[in-house]
Amino acid sequence: MSLCRVCVTFWPLTEAWFVVASVMELDKMDENDWKYHGEGNKSLVVSHVQHSRVLRLLKYPAEDSENPPQTAEQAFRQIQNIVDFSSNVMSSLLGEKFIHSGEVVKLPLEFVRQLSIKIQHQRPAWRCDKVMDIYSGCALCLPNLTSPGLYQPTHTPPLCIEIKPKCGFLPSPKHVSKDIKTKVCRFCMHQHYKVANGKWKRRSLYCPLDLFSGNRQRMHFAIRHLIEEPQNNFKIFKGGQCIYSSKEGSEESMDLNALLHHLRPYFLYGNNRINSHMTSKSVLNDFIQVLGNALLSGGGDGRVLMDRQGEGRSFCEASLFNMERIRHGSQGLPTDSVLFRILQTQMLDTLDIEGLYPLYRRIEQHLQDFPKERTRLQIDGPYNEAFLEKLQKCSMEDDGSVEYAVAKVHQYRVAMTAKDCSIMVALVPSGEEADDDEGQRRLREFKPPAFSYSVSILDLDPKPFDSIPRQLRLDQKIVSCYLRTGGALPKGSLPPLSGIIAAAEREDCTLLFHPM
Ligand SMILES: Nc1ncnc2c1ncn2[C@@H]1O[C@H](COP(=O)(O)OP(=O)(O)O)[C@@H](O)[C@H]1O
Ligand SMILES: *[C@@H]1O[C@H](CO)[C@@H](O)[C@H](O)[C@H]1NC(C)=O
Ligand SMILES: *[C@@H]1O[C@H](CO)[C@@H](O)[C@H](O)[C@H]1NC(C)=O
Ligand SMILES: [Zn+2]
Repeated sequence: MSLCRVCVTFWPLTEAWFVVASVMELDKMDENDWKYHGEGNKSLVVSHVQHSRVLRLLKYPAEDSENPPQTAEQAFRQIQNIVDFSSNVMSSLLGEKFIHSGEVVKLPLEFVRQLSIKIQHQRPAWRCDKVMDIYSGCALCLPNLTSPGLYQPTHTPPLCIEIKPKCGFLPSPKHVSKDIKTKVCRFCMHQHYKVANGKWKRRSLYCPLDLFSGNRQRMHFAIRHLIEEPQNNFKIFKGGQCIYSSKEGSEESMDLNALLHHLRPYFLYGNNRINSHMTSKSVLNDFIQVLGNALLSGGGDGRVLMDRQGEGRSFCEASLFNMERIRHGSQGLPTDSVLFRILQTQMLDTLDIEGLYPLYRRIEQHLQDFPKERTRLQIDGPYNEAFLEKLQKCSMEDDGSVEYAVAKVHQYRVAMTAKDCSIMVALVPSGEEADDDEGQRRLREFKPPAFSYSVSILDLDPKPFDSIPRQLRLDQKIVSCYLRTGGALPKGSLPPLSGIIAAAEREDCTLLFHPM
């Protein structure tokens, strides 16, 4: 053990930390206690004005607004499936300590209708092709992970960093038809596709294989590029408010100075606390180091697994990280870290979509002949222990059975969820409780800043069985686009290295890489 310059201590989030549905008085629901937060394609989120909790409500196409596409029981089942998948399946694969599955609540219809009216004018017009579900009264109640409940308003607000890491390994050559898939990772190829199709103006230089490497230098490199070009993969919240994220379709590069302005107070210490001379570079480095520490720590035995995936499957040729710079060799991920658990779950995709697709077809064929088997095989749930057992007891050998195919497809779907989840790291500055006694203060001035942190995993919805053919088509498009352009991109699509990051790059980096 050596000193880490910026200390973090583990702070497990117990359910008591968050006041969740159990204390929500369902008969006294008032729409004025809730405010619009945001929405995706499937659901709309409102947050409580006082407690740290959110409600996630389903959305339906506007054409169906007079006529709900499913009954209240079906809506309940759909939300219960989300909770079950998270709590019975993903939680056991990813580790309970990281998961907050939430609970299904049955809300008074009058409350839901008033809420829907109240928030309507705040919704973005382009999302209004769908309407909020006001028929079922069902919703998912979750802790607000960007704003842990009990921080005292007089104290510095917590920082929350949301990372969508994406897939952290290369597929095995056994199952892929194009060699490039064993050299360049899916994320990096997808970046070319997105830039070519105008989804983003600039390519991100983040590579998931660097983040999942467990090597401090590679992780630092990866996080730096997430900061530089966040896209959908990186956000920072302060006291629950988003202070740093990409704006879709924006030409502007990210305002790193505004970010540094927010971060600086969290990283002032020693002499810097007095004269604020801490350089931008060291603020950024400390921030990245704290984040890296949280992603690598687990709170358990901390064994480190070396060479987790065999030679050659953990480095991507598209990454600009220069392997020669590695000084401490490959480090691997501690087995109790959030990154290790996510990677392990992603690797349940052993066949790649190309190897999996024939098995999907086998099931489809079987279901055409025996439609009632859909229930027994648990194609659409329920996501219970039996479902988990099916995918964990899967034999290695394909015996030609539909059971084998189902187990592999279940595994693949679980891996898909793990490739699409987000990690939320909440950082709360600690040590503020010390009084202002002169001697105390002097002592404190030479102590590094300390954070309590908590790590959670978000977005653990099951991916539908029927999404598999779409996965295959997308995979083919991405790979052929990459091969066609030879990995070359139009000029200007590389992010301009921002001054601060470029300067940090040129200078000596020794302070960045403290072994744990
Ligand atoms: N428990 C939570 N804590 C904080 N933010 C959340 C939580 N759940 C969802 N959100 C935020 O709400 C927004 C919409 O929710 P999301 O689940 O992504 O919708 P969809 O399922 O339609 O994609 C997102 O910006 C997401 O970050
Ligand atoms: C949004 O949901 C609809 C189905 O309700 C689907 O057809 C469409 O592809 C989805 N869009 C995106 C961007 O996921
Ligand atoms: C979380 O809490 C913050 C602060 O109260 C709020 O601004 C934000 O909208 C909440 N987020 C969600 C998803 O409810
Ligand atoms: Zn890559």
